[in-house]
Amino acid sequence: MKILGFFGKGGTGKTTLTALILRELVKRNEGEVLAIDADANECLACLLGAEGTPTLSDMLQKYKRQREESPELTGIDIFQNLFETLLMEGEQDGYDMLIMGRGEGAGCFCAVNDLLQAVFEKTVEGEAYKYLLMDCEAGVEHIARKTSGRIHDAVIVTDASKVSLDTLKRIKDVAAEVGAEIGNYYVVANKTRPDMLEKVKETAESLGFKYLGTIPEDPNFTDIAYEGKTVFDLPDDSPAVQAAKKITDQLLSA
Ligand SMILES: Nc1ncnc2c1ncn2[C@@H]1O[C@H](COP(=O)(O)OP(=O)(O)OP(=O)(O)O)[C@@H](O)[C@H]1O
Ligand SMILES: [Mg+2]
Repeated sequence: MKILGFFGKGGTGKTTLTALILRELVKRNEGEVLAIDADANECLACLLGAEGTPTLSDMLQKYKRQREESPELTGIDIFQNLFETLLMEGEQDGYDMLIMGRGEGAGCFCAVNDLLQAVFEKTVEGEAYKYLLMDCEAGVEHIARKTSGRIHDAVIVTDASKVSLDTLKRIKDVAAEVGAEIGNYYVVANKTRPDMLEKVKETAESLGFKYLGTIPEDPNFTDIAYEGKTVFDLPDDSPAVQAAKKITDQLLSA
């Protein structure tokens, strides 16, 4: 089981890269994959064509109800049962989808985050998946809350802007502060002008992160967004797909 978390500043392309890597793993038949949409906006599910799948948030409501209705059952038994059902309901063509969803109260994600952590524990303990891909919210929140504390590979998506590159260091600092167990730090440049790539590479390497290369600006994304299509509809020879193949090769060979 390999856990990959996708991080970075807002709008840099975390969701896009998660979807591209997942597409690659599925097309290569690389083994069981679980995609976690850990962003309340549920963009990954849209890009994969898996929207409408029940969410952890829904599961939390059911959990609360069952705890009240069946006091004889332990919390963990109820949780386990509901979680297995959730994974079954999240089954897609070639992978499973888990959507975190929104917190119950305005602004409160604590309970859902606690569940997400429990999901991690359970999924890591089991051997059901070979890859777990987690599309995180922008910034450092998931690392700070340690909901993604056991990431093997943190893939940070960035452009060449100062504010995006500063996020690289913040991610490293916050992970150290909270004691997150992150095995490898990788950096992917997305939608970045070729003459600015060297700066991204230099910044990544100065922090001890491995630079994996770049995904170029690809006009095919505008088409699939306009037509409401998914990442699986991208032509195989499209620039982003070709670049994602090379990045996947590196992630798998590490
Ligand atoms: N390589 C690319 N070529 C063309 N468009 C891209 C590329 N990468 C991302 N985009 C577009 O940029 C926008 C932002 O990308 P994406 O949603 O993946 O970023 P994000 O980091 O997940 O954002 P957020 O922080 O809101 O979650 C989207 O409209 C996406 O289609
Ligand atoms: Mg996103």
